[in-house]
Amino acid sequence: MQEVLNFLKMNQPRFVTELCEYVRYPSVSAQPHHKQDLAACAGWIHRHCQAIGLNSRLCPTKGNPIILARTFRKRVRGRPHFLVYGHYDVQPAEPFDLWKSPPFKPRIEGRSLFGRGACDNKGQHLAHLKAVEAYLKTGTELPCDLTFLIEGEEEVGCIHLAAFLKAYRAELGCDAIVISDTGIPSLKHPALTYGLRGIAALEIKLQGPSRDLHSGIYGGSLENPALALCQLLAKLRDKQGRVTIPGFYDDVVPLTAYERKQLARLPYNEKEYRKFLGVRELSGERGFTAVERRSARPTLEINGLTSGYQGAGSKTIIPAWASAKITMRLVPDQTPVRIFKLAERHLQYLCPRTVRLEVEPGHGGDPYLVSPSSPKAQAALRALRRAFGYEPVLLREGGSIPIVTDFKKILGADALLLGLALPDDNPHSPNEKFSLDCFEKGMVMGAWLWQELAKA
Ligand code: BES
Ligand code: MN
Repeated sequence: MQEVLNFLKMNQPRFVTELCEYVRYPSVSAQPHHKQDLAACAGWIHRHCQAIGLNSRLCPTKGNPIILARTFRKRVRGRPHFLVYGHYDVQPAEPFDLWKSPPFKPRIEGRSLFGRGACDNKGQHLAHLKAVEAYLKTGTELPCDLTFLIEGEEEVGCIHLAAFLKAYRAELGCDAIVISDTGIPSLKHPALTYGLRGIAALEIKLQGPSRDLHSGIYGGSLENPALALCQLLAKLRDKQGRVTIPGFYDDVVPLTAYERKQLARLPYNEKEYRKFLGVRELSGERGFTAVERRSARPTLEINGLTSGYQGAGSKTIIPAWASAKITMRLVPDQTPVRIFKLAERHLQYLCPRTVRLEVEPGHGGDPYLVSPSSPKAQAALRALRRAFGYEPVLLREGGSIPIVTDFKKILGADALLLGLALPDDNPHSPNEKFSLDCFEKGMVMGAWLWQELAKA
C-alpha cells in the first residue's frame, strides 16, 4: 500500500493537469449543440482509462455513450466486484457573465480548480480512477475486481442508463456501487451519505383568454391567469411551512430520536449559513431544524414562473396564460407516482373555473435510505478516516441521484455515497470549483477503500 500512496503523492501535478484537460470539454448534456463535445469527452475518458491500464469499452447508446472500464479480463469466481459510477456530462454554464473566468477554461487559484464540471462530477470520479491507476502502475494487486461505469446523461435524468443496466445486468452484477457525487461539510468532516431525497417534477399551465388582451379595455371583466396562478401556488403551503396537498405526508417515515440527535451533531452555524446564502432569515417547516428540513423532510419548490410580457418597459396586457415549473423533494416512503397523483388532484381542486389547468408530469426519482451500520458502510468509514485523518460523519443529503434505486432494483446492490464536494463548490452555479485537497484525499480514500471493502 505504501507504494500506492507514494505514487499518488508523487504524481499530483500531473493529475491536476489531466483534470484540467477533462474539464476543458463543454460536455453539456442539456444542450443539443454540444452533442459532438459529449462524444469527444467520452472519447477522452475512454482513452484515459485505457492509458492507465484498464480494459475499457466505449458503448454507444441511443443517447450519449457509456464507458465501461474494468480492472480484469475475466472475473474470478468468489472475488468481490465493485462498480464505480460517475458522469462526464455537466450542467449548462449559463449565465456566462457571472463567471470570473470562462467555464471551460479551467483556472487554478490557491487550492481550487475552477470550471464547469470540475466538482460535478469530473474531479470526483477521476480521483477514483487515479487511485486505481496507482495500483496498476505500481504493480500492486487489487483485492477485488472493479468496473467503472461513466455515463453522459446524469444531468438530464440518466435517460438511457436503466435500459443499459438491464442489458448488461450479468456483467455488471456486483457487491456494491461506489458513487462520489455528493458533499462533505468540510475537509475535517469527511462523510458517508446514507440517504438522498427523491424527486417529482411537474409543470402547470393556467390557460385564460384565447390571446393576450388589452388590460384597460378588458381588465375587470375576466380572470388574469398570472394572478390566478400566484393565488393557486400560494395555497400550496400553509403558515406552518407545510405542503397542503392532502396525503402528501402520509407515507413519510418519521425521523427517529437517534437520527435527530445525529443530525444535530453535524457542524452547522445558523449565522454563517444565512450569510452564505445571502438571506436575512431562514424559513421552512415548523418543528424541524434547518438541517432536518433540507435533508430529511419533503418539500415543494417553484423552480420557474412564466407569464405575460418580460421585455423592456411596460406592456399593458392580460396574459393569455401563466405557467410554473415545480419540483417536490421526497423522503422515504413517498413515491413520485403517488405524489404526482395527489398533487394533480389538489391542483385541479384549487383551480378556479375562470381558467383552464393543464398539468404535465416531469421526471421522477425515488428517495434512498440505506443502513450506515452495514459491514460495507463501516469499511467505507474506515477508508474515509484513513484518508482525511478525521472522524467521518453520517449524512442524509437533500439532493437526488435517481439512478441509485435503479442500481438497487436491477443489480440488487446498495450504493456507498462517498462525496468529495465542499459546501462552497457551486455545483450547477457560476464559478463551480473543485478543491485540489479533496481531489488528493479522494484518491487516497479510493486507494484504501478497496482494501477495506475486500475485507468487509
Ligand atoms: N450530484 C447531484 C446530486 C446531489 C448533490 C446529491 C449534492 C446530494 C448532494 C446530481 O448531479 C444532481 O444534481 N441531481 C439532480 C437530479 C435531478 C436532475 C433528477 C438534483 O438533485 O436536482
Ligand atoms: Mn449535478
